[in-house]
Amino acid sequence: MSELKSVIASTKSGAVRVDLPMPFGWFQVLYSAELAVGESQPLSYFGSDLVIFRTESGLVKVLDAYCPHMGAHLGYGIRDQAGGGSRVVGESIVCPFHGWAFNGDGECTDIPYADKMPPRVARCEKVTLSWPVREANQCVYVWYHPQGVQPLYEPPLIEEASPENDAWGELKIYEWDIDTHPQEIGENAVDAAHFRFVHGTPQVPEPTVMRFEDHCRFGLLESEMDTPRGRVKGRIENSSVGAGLSVVRFSGICETVLMANLTPVEDGLTRAKYAFIQRADAGASASRVGQAIIDDIRQQMEEDRIIWARKRYLEKPMLCDGDGPFAKFRRWYGQFLISDTAND
Ligand code: FES
Ligand SMILES: [Fe+2]
Repeated sequence: MSELKSVIASTKSGAVRVDLPMPFGWFQVLYSAELAVGESQPLSYFGSDLVIFRTESGLVKVLDAYCPHMGAHLGYGIRDQAGGGSRVVGESIVCPFHGWAFNGDGECTDIPYADKMPPRVARCEKVTLSWPVREANQCVYVWYHPQGVQPLYEPPLIEEASPENDAWGELKIYEWDIDTHPQEIGENAVDAAHFRFVHGTPQVPEPTVMRFEDHCRFGLLESEMDTPRGRVKGRIENSSVGAGLSVVRFSGICETVLMANLTPVEDGLTRAKYAFIQRADAGASASRVGQAIIDDIRQQMEEDRIIWARKRYLEKPMLCDGDGPFAKFRRWYGQFLISDTAND
């Protein structure tokens, strides 16, 4: 648990530090390897209690946590399942309280002791909320939308993270809980000046390309770097798909891919899930450089979060010409924010 955890998302005067609604989109909730066939787990994201399970056919499903029968939490097993999740039978999860079973679409598939099914069950209606899920890039993504709108785009396919891609090594995984809104963390990518002051970087190359298109964003930084092997052209490509999923590709001296995903846990709390991938056949010296890249980014995260966990979100910051394209970034990000009052 973060030592900054005690800093709540409001100021001394009680004002909310970051007054932005939770963004909609695809967000990473697990890595594929964290959920075995037949396993279920409780999940808390998007200010909601959820249960995630992998069916016998291998599909991942997410439902509201609370059983529509009498409200038991579906993510906690008892007796021989105690300490784990509740039982998964075939394509359904079985409630530990009275044994009702629910499939991934939210339909009740069995009530073991009923002679006559409740009408909604008999009509095969959905009786609990099922959340859209995708599994790709060794990650499990869940779609969140405050008004229940179904997915408007798809998560990206990241070739290097494909489970079939043997040329790339295992994921190196790091996670941080940060007391702020994901937009504040996302702004890091366009904030040129902070690199010098927060991270001590001598100078930051101007982005060669910075594009915002629909739900995607793409940035490219190119710079010459002096290495033991002479001067090398380094490239950092940085792309986002929606508010939650980003990929950073470092090339030049050591090819490294970073999946940098941000998932809202609740208002004012974001979980950063970072996974690095490097070439499986990288030699010893490239591996050392690769580890240095990872260590540097972890260090940057520790530095940034001191700011993020305490700063206020200023709707109209006082910018100068050396600041990055914040307005463009915020216009792009704004498409994922639906304020609570929008449908009043
Ligand atoms: S509360 Fe789930 S079966 Fe009764
Ligand atoms: Fe930073």
